[in-house]
Amino acid sequence: MVVQPNAAGIARAVALLQAGEVIGLPTETVYGLAADAANPEAVARIFALKGRPSNHPVIVHVADATAAGRWAARVPAAALQLMQRFWPGPLTLILPRAPGVPLAVTGGQESVGLRCPAHPVAQAVLRAFAQAGGSGGLAAPSANRFGRVSPTLPGHVEHEFGRAVPLVLDGGACAVGIESTIVDLSRGAPVLLRPGGVLVADLEDCLGVPVLAPGQAPVAGAVPRVSGALAAHYAPHTPLRLLALAGLPAALAEAARQAARVAVWAPALVPPDARATVWQVAPADAQAYARGLYATLRELDAAGCDQLLIVRPPEGPAWLGVHDRLARAAVGSGPAVAAQ
Ligand code: TXA
Ligand code: MG
Repeated sequence: MVVQPNAAGIARAVALLQAGEVIGLPTETVYGLAADAANPEAVARIFALKGRPSNHPVIVHVADATAAGRWAARVPAAALQLMQRFWPGPLTLILPRAPGVPLAVTGGQESVGLRCPAHPVAQAVLRAFAQAGGSGGLAAPSANRFGRVSPTLPGHVEHEFGRAVPLVLDGGACAVGIESTIVDLSRGAPVLLRPGGVLVADLEDCLGVPVLAPGQAPVAGAVPRVSGALAAHYAPHTPLRLLALAGLPAALAEAARQAARVAVWAPALVPPDARATVWQVAPADAQAYARGLYATLRELDAAGCDQLLIVRPPEGPAWLGVHDRLARAAVGSGPAVAAQ
């Protein structure tokens, strides 16, 4: 049930969390499926709901940098710098885990992912949960079934899980729209595990050192598993093809020859083409594009077409997270995707 985030709604959410239940929690990136990070059974419930393999770690959400100390064995200077500059906000830091952190949270690894969300409803829940004597940490992956499109509206969560999730707090549309940037600081040099709302150039500006790509990482210890790093993820059921603007007329002609129904997401540069069943205009700005990305994928997917044609957005640092999600959505799309 979608519930307003007033005092009564927050109190109900906290009571459910204390009882080991899972709730739908708005954040500025995407909606999360949240449970008490200190309660392994509650965390196991998240995995069961999502259909996610239990060896995949989940992010622990905290109210502030001080609360992060409970979950990390060490908070290196670089982590403190990043927390000061980007928290609360769309940045997750991978740090060595504190001894008491359940292995269900870390996927059996020696590191833990920590994020302090900026959304006022997430903040209100985290603070009320800590004040009520809870652990102060909420394990929360994105509130979608494993491998599928992430939710950016409360209705997306309800549509995906129905009554299996007893309460979804209504935080409106997510302002960022794609998941947090993930930086691994558990192995020395900072390594980018997932591009997202915080840009690499801003991280490097803050740290004064380069942020490495996963392939450049010093191989000390096991490489962390990141489910968002699977080639197929964030995927619609309808086959999705990414193409250059120049390839669109030929793709439309081919679809018309096969009498296939197509949904198109293209920039305003091209006028809508009557051969497309659905035509949506893509924003020219990277932030606006990211904000609408998942809701648009869901809408286009629901249109009952045979194919989604998405014109590749521009290149450039601000578009990194969008390209990452689109590429994985294309690989994983189609009706019979094997969850990887
Ligand atoms: O924006 C976000 O980060 C959203 C909202 C709800 O906060 N959450 C999110 O969670 O995207 P999820 O579980 O869908 O993705 C979390 C990613 C996964 O790819 C997971 O593998 C990685 O974070 N992760 C979590 N803990 C990790 C760890 N200890 N080491 C490496 N990767 C980790
Ligand atoms: Mg996810």
